[in-house]
Amino acid sequence: MMAQTTYMVQIAHLEKYFGEDRERVHVLKGVSLDIPEGSLYTFLGPSGCGKTTTLRCVAGLERPESGTISIDGKTVFAAGDRVYVPTNRRPIGMVFQSYAIWPHMTVFENVAYPLTIQRRPKSEIRERVANVLKVVGLHGLEDRPAPKLSGGQQQRVAFARALVNQPKVLLLDEPLSNLDAKLREQMRFEIKALQRRVNITTIYVTHDQSEALAISDQIAVMHGGKLIEIGSPHELYSRPKRKFTATFLGLTNLIEGRVLELGGNSAPGRMETKKGVLCFVPATAMQKNQPAVISIRPEHIQVHKRKPEGLDNVVEGTVKESVFMGDAYHCQIAVGDDLLRVHTHPFLSMTPGEKVYLHLDPQSCNGLPAEDIEGIDESMLGE
Ligand SMILES: Nc1ncnc2c1ncn2[C@@H]1O[C@H](COP(=O)(O)OP(=O)(O)OP(=O)(O)O)[C@@H](O)[C@H]1O
Ligand SMILES: [Mg+2]
Repeated sequence: MMAQTTYMVQIAHLEKYFGEDRERVHVLKGVSLDIPEGSLYTFLGPSGCGKTTTLRCVAGLERPESGTISIDGKTVFAAGDRVYVPTNRRPIGMVFQSYAIWPHMTVFENVAYPLTIQRRPKSEIRERVANVLKVVGLHGLEDRPAPKLSGGQQQRVAFARALVNQPKVLLLDEPLSNLDAKLREQMRFEIKALQRRVNITTIYVTHDQSEALAISDQIAVMHGGKLIEIGSPHELYSRPKRKFTATFLGLTNLIEGRVLELGGNSAPGRMETKKGVLCFVPATAMQKNQPAVISIRPEHIQVHKRKPEGLDNVVEGTVKESVFMGDAYHCQIAVGDDLLRVHTHPFLSMTPGEKVYLHLDPQSCNGLPAEDIEGIDESMLGE
C-alpha cells in the first residue's frame, strides 16, 4: 500500500480583490492547492499572475475575500467562519526579494532578532543561533557586521533568520533575484540542499522557469490569478497538459492541426496538419475532429541529411539559421510557412539554405487542446 501524503499547507477556493469600486481588480480567481509535507513547492508564472499575493495570504499579510487556508492541520484563515490567525502566530518563516537584513547589526544579532523580540532566554538564543548558522554554513561569522558580507552570505543570513524560530513552513518570494546571474545559479543548489537537510516544507515563488525546473519537487503554474497546471518539473516539461505550460516552461514548437484519430492502447493519435498527417501522444482528453496542437521540444527533433525510410513524422525543411552554442547547434528550420526550432548535436554542422529532413519523434509529440488562455501574449512565452 502506498503511504498516504500528509499536506502541510492546504489552500482552498481563494478569491482576492484589490482596490475599490471601478478600480477593483480580481487578482486570485479560485486558487486551490495542497502542499505535501517536506516538499519544495513552487508558484511559477508571469509577472502579475498572483504568486506573491497567494504567498502573502498564506503568511497572513493579505486577507482574501473568500476561501480557506490551513497550516499543519490547523485552520489559519476561513472567510466564512471569520477565522484569521495573525502572521506572528502562524508557524512560518519568510525570505523576500529584498531580504532586508539590518546593516547596523552583526550576523548574530540579525539572526537572533526574531528570538530577541520574543524575550527568549539568552542561553537558548545563543544555542539556536549557533545551530542555524551551522545549517546555512555561516558558522564562525557571528560577529561580522552585516555590510561586510558578500551577497550570497547576506542571503544566507536571511535564510538563517527565517529558520531560527523553527517554523513548519518556509515562504520564499524570489529570494535570489537580487543576486548576479552566476551566484543565483549557484544558490539554487544551496537552497535545494538546505531544504533537503532541514526537510522543511517550502513555498518558493519565481517567474524564472529554469529556476523552477532546477529546484522544485512540484510546480504550480499560474496565469491571470488561476492555476493552470500542477506537476513535477519532469511531468510539466515532458508531458504538459496545457498549451500555456508547454510554452512557458522551456522552448517548444507548436504545430496546429485537427484530430483525426485519438489513438489509445499504445497506438498513437493522428493529427492532420499543414505538414501532413503527424502522430502524437494525447496528453489529455481530446476530441476527434477538434482543433488541436502538437508541442515538440527543439531537442526532440532529429535532423537527417537524407530522407529516412520507414519512419512516421518526417517532414522536409530548409535550414534558415544555425548558431553554434558550444554544446549544440540551435537552428531555425523553415517547414512550409513555419519556422521550427531545432537543437542538434554540435558535430552536425549545417549551412543556411541546405535541405534537411526532420524526424519529429512521435513519443515526444504532445497533442494538446488548441485552447487559448485569455490575455497571453507572445512576450510572456518563449525562452
Ligand atoms: N496592494 C495592491 N493593490 C492593488 N493591486 C495590487 C496590490 N498588490 C498586487 N496587486 C495587483 O495584483 C496582481 C497580482 O500581483 P502579485 O504581486 O501577486 O503578482 P506576482 O505574480 O507576484 O508578479 P511578479 O512576478 O511581478 O512579482 C497584479 O496585477 C498587481 O498589480
Ligand atoms: Mg511577486
